[in-house]
Amino acid sequence: MEREKTLILLKPDAVQRKLMGKIIQRIEEKNLDITALKLIHVDKAIAEEHYGEHKGKPFFGELIQFITAGPALAMIVEGPKAISVMRAMMGKTNPFEASPGTLRGDFGLDLTANLIHGSDSPESASREIQRFFGKVVA
Ligand code: RTP
Ligand code: MG
Repeated sequence: MEREKTLILLKPDAVQRKLMGKIIQRIEEKNLDITALKLIHVDKAIAEEHYGEHKGKPFFGELIQFITAGPALAMIVEGPKAISVMRAMMGKTNPFEASPGTLRGDFGLDLTANLIHGSDSPESASREIQRFFGKVVA
């Protein structure tokens, strides 16, 4: 099966709540490969670019404020169908709808502070890997 790369961000709530280890463990237990990883502080310009598709929506300001509020952990995760596998492990965007057993279903109760971002298509993945890690590893 074709290997894919996806860009995962553990959002500031996951870092602040000290859930990085648990979430990394779930990714490793699934047998996906973490091939790059760094703590970053997302600045406003990168945040607005990253969430550009949501510009103009009522929650945009809150989303940018939240994602820039503290350190986040950026990772490249690789494996068979890594993009859809990670999205399934994350669960639905709204933690009240996310199934138990998913990261958002198990660890969160807030639509903005929903712990984790994962690329939603091969095109987003390559754009987002470039955004957070540059050309070298994309
Ligand atoms: P993400 O981009 O963060 O991985 O999340 P996602 O694909 O599951 O969801 P998306 O539709 O791209 O939304 C991005 C983030 O915006 C917040 N959101 N708030 N108030 C609202 O109706 C609303 N809708 C979305 C969430 O924090 C979501 O992760
Ligand atoms: Mg999204």
